[in-house]
Amino acid sequence: MKTPKYIAVDGGEGSGKSTLIKTLPDIFGELVFTTREPGGSPDGKVIRRVLLNHPFSPMAGAEAELHLMFVDRYDHVKEVVKPKVDAGICVVTDRSDASSWAYQVNAGSNIATRGILEAKFWEYRKGLVLVPLLYVVLDVDPEVGLSRRKATNRVNHIDTRPIEFHQMVRRALLEFPNYIQSRSVIIDANRPLEDVKKDFLAVIRREIGGFS
Ligand code: TMP
Repeated sequence: MKTPKYIAVDGGEGSGKSTLIKTLPDIFGELVFTTREPGGSPDGKVIRRVLLNHPFSPMAGAEAELHLMFVDRYDHVKEVVKPKVDAGICVVTDRSDASSWAYQVNAGSNIATRGILEAKFWEYRKGLVLVPLLYVVLDVDPEVGLSRRKATNRVNHIDTRPIEFHQMVRRALLEFPNYIQSRSVIIDANRPLEDVKKDFLAVIRREIGGFS
């Protein structure tokens, strides 16, 4: 019996991760369950709307966002991810705690709040019933990613933050694997989607191959 897998896929806006993740069920069938954060559980869908689509969403500070992201994540991991992993299904989540580390703790903080947010992040993370075994970072230059994103109609209030914010997100996503025990893979997502897809599917195939 091989270890069931829980894989996180994180990346800046326009990295192509959601498009790539959507291809997985057709390729791997019932071996894979795909989900997302925020909004991967029924209660989480409400939290996602509050965080991203409510008229007051842009007014929330990084601390409020961090709390809400973890409320969503606790519910998601306990109610959705863990039961699938326990059933031997490989779970691939579109975003994870790596995004909270990047968007809230690093890019969203300032000199006064950084230490507080970082301490809260590690404390909250410890409370999760499960953390990903593998983090896949789709690394994209924010100039490239944001121009891809603007070509779609899926722009949220976080996308419209200054380019410096997105550059900090990128740096923090690349650094996050240095602070955790889980494995990580970085894929260059500046390339055409078909090339990124080849590398991405190779990673997922290798992980699924770990199932008996
Ligand atoms: P998505 O557009 O990839 O679905 O992600 C939703 C937005 O939420 C995206 O702008 C990044 C943001 N986000 C955070 O700021 N912190 C988090 O912990 C997560 C999971 C997402």
